[in-house]
Amino acid sequence: MNDGIFKDEWLDEVIEAQSRAYTPYSKFNVGALLVTEDDEYIYGANIENAAYPATICAERSALVSAYSNNITKFKAIVVVTDADGPASPCGVCRQVMKELCDDDMPVYLTSKSGEVIKRTVDDLLPLGFSGKDMD
Ligand code: THU
Repeated sequence: MNDGIFKDEWLDEVIEAQSRAYTPYSKFNVGALLVTEDDEYIYGANIENAAYPATICAERSALVSAYSNNITKFKAIVVVTDADGPASPCGVCRQVMKELCDDDMPVYLTSKSGEVIKRTVDDLLPLGFSGKDMD
């Protein structure tokens, strides 16, 4: 991916994030790497629960971790899963990205073999609902 933003080292970092997944039920490991405006890395992984709806996805893990540590400005998020090709964030994660990230922030969907697909938050949730809709 040569867009002047993506760095190849993010592929290794997101796999490190994925290695922290807790998935006794699905055994489907997801990693999310949130890159801050200062080029710091925040790791997220899916953390499952025996009460399935209590599971938190990797993307939301990363965003909640960042916000909890008072980090709120991001350059990009990178996602990797166990699927053969790049997999795409669930609807709930798209809505949370809409809330906490800029609409034009890049979302890089990657695979362990190094494929990278670039979308933005707005691409993934066109016409998404936000606080502005309540003004
Ligand atoms: N999962 C994520 O972590 N991110 C997504 O956007 C899609 C799904 C997780 C949730 C669950 O632990 C596993 O993948 C299977 O659904």
